[in-house]
Amino acid sequence: MGSARYDRIGCNYSQFRRTEPTWAAQINAALGSAATVLNVGAGTGSYEAVGRDLIALEPSRVMIDQRSAEASPCVQGVAEGLPFADDAFDATMGVLTMHHWPDREAGLREVARVAPRHVYTVYETTPAHQLWLIDYFPEVRTLPMERAAPDAALIDEVLRVIDEQVLWVPRDCVEGFAAASWARPHDYLDPDMQDAISLFALSEPEVRRRGTEQLAADLDSGLWDEKYGHLAELDEGDFGYRMVVAERR
Ligand SMILES: C[S@@+](CC[C@H](N)C(=O)[O-])C[C@H]1O[C@@H](n2cnc3c(N)ncnc32)[C@H](O)[C@@H]1O
Repeated sequence: MGSARYDRIGCNYSQFRRTEPTWAAQINAALGSAATVLNVGAGTGSYEAVGRDLIALEPSRVMIDQRSAEASPCVQGVAEGLPFADDAFDATMGVLTMHHWPDREAGLREVARVAPRHVYTVYETTPAHQLWLIDYFPEVRTLPMERAAPDAALIDEVLRVIDEQVLWVPRDCVEGFAAASWARPHDYLDPDMQDAISLFALSEPEVRRRGTEQLAADLDSGLWDEKYGHLAELDEGDFGYRMVVAERR
């Protein structure tokens, strides 16, 4: 169950996972004129748009306990069984949460029940898996959530997708999601930083050890620079993250 997962892997989430302002601006614009918003899988409180009446929903007590006193009010629960009345909100949103939902279809039906408009960030695994990081940890491609990552097409099976935008990852991205440090490879050597990324946290310790040692060796020898140093010239990258805007059918 999703809640158990983040009770297990979410202990240091708020230390490394912060609001990336470019993403927050994009999400906020997509929410349009929605005055009341439900943030599903809200975690520790990133991306909670100010100036709106926002309720957070989060299954994991470990995540809820890391929310600041200023964060929006939070209800413990899961997407698949929202404890809210029909049409209780103008919009729902969710950031990097849907791939953790055990039953995406049930969750999407529930969000459609409580609001007419929806803004979710997801990722396309094909471009995501082209990131150089995956060369060091190829086994992550076989994690269940990677083999069946939700995308716009899946969302469109239940909701009506009206827009899909690339979420570019700036070279100085302040978030700590999997691709955030694409231009700062040494970051990935930090085991605490890895713990805050589900791709690593859900991988076998041996997979993490082997990949981290290889990355350290390649950074040390200059091989990483030889193979991937050209990336350092980019200001931002597309690593498969997408913002999907949808309406109730
Ligand atoms: C990667 S974190 C993202 C947290 C937050 N949205 C953010 O961007 O910082 C994924 C979150 O989804 C939550 N989650 C997992 N399964 C869920 C479910 N079935 N319903 C709602 N949230 C779920 C997890 O507990 C976790 O807090």
